[in-house]
Amino acid sequence: MPLATSAPSFEALLQRPGLAWMGQNTTHLEPPPEVTDALLDSTRRREFQFYAPALGFAELRELIVDDLGLAGSTAMITDGAVGGLHHLCTALAPRLSRLITTDPGWPWPGRFVELEGVPVTAVEVYSAGAGYKLSAAALADVIEPGALIYLIDPLNPLGSSYTRDELDAIVGVARAHGAIIVHDCTYRHFADGHTLVAGLYPEGTLTTYSFSKWLGLAGLRLGAVVGRPELLGPLTSTPSNPLGANIQAQRAAIAGLKVKDPWLQRLRQVNRRNQQIVTEAVTRGPVGRVLVDPSHGNFLAVDVSGQGLTADRVCADLLERDVFIRSGTYQSPAFGERFVKVSTSVPAEWAERFAAAWAELEPGEPR
Ligand SMILES: Cc1ncc(COP(=O)(O)O)c(C=O)c1O
Repeated sequence: MPLATSAPSFEALLQRPGLAWMGQNTTHLEPPPEVTDALLDSTRRREFQFYAPALGFAELRELIVDDLGLAGSTAMITDGAVGGLHHLCTALAPRLSRLITTDPGWPWPGRFVELEGVPVTAVEVYSAGAGYKLSAAALADVIEPGALIYLIDPLNPLGSSYTRDELDAIVGVARAHGAIIVHDCTYRHFADGHTLVAGLYPEGTLTTYSFSKWLGLAGLRLGAVVGRPELLGPLTSTPSNPLGANIQAQRAAIAGLKVKDPWLQRLRQVNRRNQQIVTEAVTRGPVGRVLVDPSHGNFLAVDVSGQGLTADRVCADLLERDVFIRSGTYQSPAFGERFVKVSTSVPAEWAERFAAAWAELEPGEPR
């Protein structure tokens, strides 16, 4: 997969204090006070002078397994979910024949295995007919022995999620070929009725977990890989960061998991409301249509094709109005110019600013 050329400079964007950050699926609400207190307390105790345990604090590892409800599995704490994905991609690469994922999707695991010489197949799912997700039938067409299936659910950037029946069928195909499934659950906490592949296929599933989105700890870099000890063993015996993930982040994550229920109630409410504001603005506006509504993530994908505009153009226009959204070109070689992605776990005022900016878009000549 080629590197997207249109990546904005996050360093430059951080210099813009008035910017509405709706381009990284990060959360920008006032965090639970318990989380801030844990960070301050850890800082005052100068815990940053220590290394954390190689696989993370035992309490945090247990809280994550409890949160997922995956008794019998263990968690290893990683430097963000992406640190875990990088580790498992490179550790498993020698035994992989291919990585199978979707287009649109999240490009990094494909790039990690490609560096190790493993080819990637990205099944195209940008259609209502496909339900904007991978079907077992489409998977069956491309699977081969030794494949790794990288399944993002809810799917960034489209917002689709898989039902238990759909996952059952995907697991049937995987099991028949002895394929490992990496279930990327970065956005699980925003979904309605999410099913874990690990519950259906425990012997062949690694689940990745993130604190960046639901708890809003993106800059602290904390995540996990969860799996049965037999599957996780090769990863835990040589962790990619044996000196332990960010110690303050781990304290914050423990505090966050302890107040998870009220926090998620509030966060999900804000997210839903902002999705409505964005959807209404797009429906009323001069351009675009929301692809998956409601989205199961903290973002919406908006198709802008056929109106003489490219995704990059729309993003540039909004950025001029101090609203940062992301072009599909980051996440889809095949369809990227057709859609933009708008993150919604943000203050309502930002969603309103998005709505005002969207109304000012000017379509070009229809194509
Ligand atoms: C599908 C997916 N997986 C993993 C990540 C990375 O998560 P983290 O911030 O925990 O590394 C992202 C971030 O956007 C993502 O969208």
